[in-house]
Amino acid sequence: MSEPYYDVIHPHGGVLVDRVLRGEVRAAVRERAATMIKIPLRPMGLSDLELIGVGALSPLTGFMRQADYHRCVTEMRLTNGLIWSIPVTLAVGQDVADQIKENQEIALCEREKDGDRILAVMEVAEKYPYTRQVKEQEAREVYRTTEEAHPGVARLYGRGEVLLGGDIWLVDWPSAVQTEFPELRHTPAETRRMFARRGWRSVVGFQTRNPIHRAHEYLQKTALEIVDGLFLHPLVGETKDDDIPADVRIASYQAILRDYYPAERVLLGVFPAAMRYAGPREAIFHAIARKNYGCTHFIVGRDHAGVGKYYGTYDAQNIFDQFPPQEIGITPFRFEHAFYCKKCEAIVSAKTCPHGKDDWLFLSGTQVREMLERGEMLPEEFTRPEVARVLLEGVQRHKETT
Ligand code: ADX
Repeated sequence: MSEPYYDVIHPHGGVLVDRVLRGEVRAAVRERAATMIKIPLRPMGLSDLELIGVGALSPLTGFMRQADYHRCVTEMRLTNGLIWSIPVTLAVGQDVADQIKENQEIALCEREKDGDRILAVMEVAEKYPYTRQVKEQEAREVYRTTEEAHPGVARLYGRGEVLLGGDIWLVDWPSAVQTEFPELRHTPAETRRMFARRGWRSVVGFQTRNPIHRAHEYLQKTALEIVDGLFLHPLVGETKDDDIPADVRIASYQAILRDYYPAERVLLGVFPAAMRYAGPREAIFHAIARKNYGCTHFIVGRDHAGVGKYYGTYDAQNIFDQFPPQEIGITPFRFEHAFYCKKCEAIVSAKTCPHGKDDWLFLSGTQVREMLERGEMLPEEFTRPEVARVLLEGVQRHKETT
């Protein structure tokens, strides 16, 4: 039997990027890399490297050069005109940059106990300044704030003073690929095949950095009423310290998938990206990455990828209106803020429920964390007891080990 047609939706820019070297070429490049300057990557760099390598950030084939960076920050586009909302860059300190010449090849590494392990080779096409002023412009445009209290902005200000732009080739995987959810780390090429084998012609992607709760389930299943398949795609790269750890979040999904979701219509995978907390801009980035994984639709609910009070509740939905839908390619499913209503005895939104605030149950992420840290079960209206138990156990376990 021939492979089913699996290009239901084209990757961003038309071609799924693959920057992973294999076989003899890989061996040769790896050997050559041993003589190059070694640059250890931070967690976000490791995530970006993996994402670029597997084509999740197609059409990017490396870290951004200055013209792409600048146009991305100011216009949300690459120099070739494609929509791109989040800079994907490699920053180094001035001292490191001084040792590298343009057109030189360098080795990108992961810092490990017994030394730096080489993961990729990069051809440094350009070095360009990443001054405080440049960073503040990025903060203003991408994060909509220059305040250091914003976790994405804080990380941005803490990066090196020079950006290196150029193509990369992977010769080895970051250790997380083997140690963190290897069975769920499907690449875009794999998910495209998996969707096709299941016969899905339309697939909705769900991004999350939180444990599953009833409002999430409501969004996911409402969307699934309309399309063929649901791709649950929790982000497992770097998140801020007070977010629930990824292993606990994934366990929360595994606790209910078997009993409450139709196996033939749902796929769980992990998204190796780091969170930026850039709200609207990150919603576009998340959507385009999921298009690369083969999704035709993408859920954008309340305050997607937001943090604190930096973004309006529906800013991350409204930003999609700034672009012609065919240029984004993947269709956003916009959801109102959903919550439990005691009178309706169901998850509802202000759009579907005639009752008022007194009947509605709201729990913020902070409230949820505080309850779990105190060892309290979460209310059944908020999340399924199977999930609440996993979270309680997980948060207590992490508390003991930190
Ligand atoms: S995010 O930072 O990854 O966006 P989260 O895991 O909280 O955070 O949300 C995942 C997705 O579900 C996002 O699209 C978000 O907007 C949406 N969402 C989360 N909670 C609700 C809710 N109660 N009502 C509507 N949408 C929600």
